[in-house]
Amino acid sequence: MTQNNIRNFCIIAHIDHGKSTLADRFLELTKTVEDRKMREQLLDQMDLERERGITIKLQPVRMRYNVKITNSKLQIQNKSQNSKSETNFPISQFPNSDTQSENSKPASQEYILNLIDTPGHVDFSYEVSRSLAAVEGTILLVDATKGIQAQTLANLYLALEQDLVIIPVVNKIDLKNAMVEKVTAEIAELLGINPEEVIKISAKQGTNIEEVLKAVIKKIPPPQRDFQKPLRALVFDSIYDSYKGIIAYVRIADGHIRPFEKIKMMAADSETEALEIGIFKPHLEKTDLLQAGEIGYIATGLKEINKCRVGDTITNLFPFREGLETGSSTDAPLTSSQEKNNTHSQPLPKRELIPLPGYKKVKPMVFASVYPTEGGDYLELRATLEKLKLNDASLSFEPESSPALGRGFKCGFLGVLHLEIITERLNREYNLDLIVTTPSVKYKIIKTNKEKQSIFSPADLPDASLIEEIQEPWVKLEIITPKEYLGQVMNFTENYRSEYKNTNYLTSNRTILTYEIPLSDIIVDFHDGLKSVSSGFASLNYELIGYRPGNLIRLDILVAEEKINAFSRIVPEKDAYSIGRQTVERLKDLIPRQNFAIAIQAAISGKIIARETVKPFRKDVTAKLYGGDVTRKRKLLEKQKKGKKRMRSFGKVEIPQEAFVAVLRKE
Ligand code: GTP
Repeated sequence: MTQNNIRNFCIIAHIDHGKSTLADRFLELTKTVEDRKMREQLLDQMDLERERGITIKLQPVRMRYNVKITNSKLQIQNKSQNSKSETNFPISQFPNSDTQSENSKPASQEYILNLIDTPGHVDFSYEVSRSLAAVEGTILLVDATKGIQAQTLANLYLALEQDLVIIPVVNKIDLKNAMVEKVTAEIAELLGINPEEVIKISAKQGTNIEEVLKAVIKKIPPPQRDFQKPLRALVFDSIYDSYKGIIAYVRIADGHIRPFEKIKMMAADSETEALEIGIFKPHLEKTDLLQAGEIGYIATGLKEINKCRVGDTITNLFPFREGLETGSSTDAPLTSSQEKNNTHSQPLPKRELIPLPGYKKVKPMVFASVYPTEGGDYLELRATLEKLKLNDASLSFEPESSPALGRGFKCGFLGVLHLEIITERLNREYNLDLIVTTPSVKYKIIKTNKEKQSIFSPADLPDASLIEEIQEPWVKLEIITPKEYLGQVMNFTENYRSEYKNTNYLTSNRTILTYEIPLSDIIVDFHDGLKSVSSGFASLNYELIGYRPGNLIRLDILVAEEKINAFSRIVPEKDAYSIGRQTVERLKDLIPRQNFAIAIQAAISGKIIARETVKPFRKDVTAKLYGGDVTRKRKLLEKQKKGKKRMRSFGKVEIPQEAFVAVLRKE
């Protein structure tokens, strides 16, 4: 196997267009996973991903794929696969068909295909951008029933910025409502290519999957690499293992690494030894060599997260050889004598080594405070957040404390789905009971004494008499919609504080509407609303454009006469009354009845503007169960107990966790 036979690629698409399903077909076709271990959306390894049917984490996998070459035809054949399929691909179209024997005897060539499956939701686009930096090409997958959507475009732009080769594919051609020709034409128009170049597949039924793999081999270049240079490996993701410490997911740019080599994290300036190296199958599988061009992992044994971060470059600790920069590089794997020369017995003069470009630091968009339900879990929560950050570089947090909730953390997220996923992971993977306050954006305050202050929680807003101006973040919002839904979408956006900018045609049937809008208007249920007015066809993408002054005030919520800071919100003054009314009505349904009446009030500057009462009642969940099924009764009581665990007492009243996000929803 020559190193020219490596292809590194990922699949990008809008949410639900079928990335993980296509990845399943690749795994089957290449026999990467045994049949008995195969299950749907195999690369979505977290329970949460499987339950919600969405990809949250990027996931790399290495596949081996055999290409059989006979005369001018290619056969794709996998080791343990009986069925062969013949294609009419001329060999000359394959850049690396160097194993074709001179007398045209059948020869076979094996390719290593490193695939990174990526999430589609806008909240996880940081995962996509990191994956794109580790590959040379990408499959752009578009659902034939939906066409090009906002994340298709956003991810395509990310890929083009990295100069990646794009392989356009239309998926779900098996569905009755698939608009195969129309969507193919749209993609061709967008990319400026011939419609014939768009591959039409059904990932579910396995139609034309081989065509896609052949295109990957044919069109995506092998990685550029230099085995002779010192090791430079880009950390594109990481996980924490209690035995192996931080396991860095790496793309080796130059050089090579073997187990037990001394390594250095260049940005963190930390040193350690590679306890284990390996590849993704997709589980971690040990190897004894990772070379330039490959994607794999390095177990560092490091326990402190700041010693090895995503975006860092890992290099060898041993000194570098002379003459490296003067073109002594080769394009072949290491020979045994080169390996020998690589022993670290003779220190050589140290050279400047330039780290690989890392990643842009992501800016959190949404903030919420996270407190343990049991005060004693604070240290555990801190350790857990640190571990989670290793696996999710976009999470940020810092300690804070509150008189009502004790010690906790102010956390920054990329969106509300990201917040929900992180808190759910804390709950499930680490078994922590938490209170998460109502999410908020970051506000900038200019006080009457001209002092500037940033606040992440409405509870921190200074007294109104001290405030000269409150500024809130605005975003440029792009909505992509088929033109038949244009009217509905425009009507829908009028319900928000949006400022219309323009309409452009992306293709003859698809428009991009551009607005500017306060971020706080779109973070919770804007997306769901947009989907419902456009029968699921419209989609959105946004980017921060800066801060603007707003006519904003704080809305407080009192439960049983006690102000609950975690419910406070900053809202437009003109909408404060209706939002206050809506919030108390919603809370009335969310706060369980107790054996005393509970007043729920909304207040502005101490003045009550709306009130509801939760009537007293001891809820007996088993009351409706007549008959003597004891186990069912016990189960219900257990369920109730579990539900209780996730409530937090505020004075005499217990408030369920979901209430803190639910108050933000419009409907
Ligand atoms: P995210 O990672 O969450 O963005 O989703 P995804 O792009 O990985 O999509 P996924 O593979 O989870 O597929 C979404 C849904 O579409 C699932 O219910 C799949 O079964 C279905 N699906 C995927 N490909 C096809 C196809 O070719 N035909 C049909 N009929 N359904 C498909």
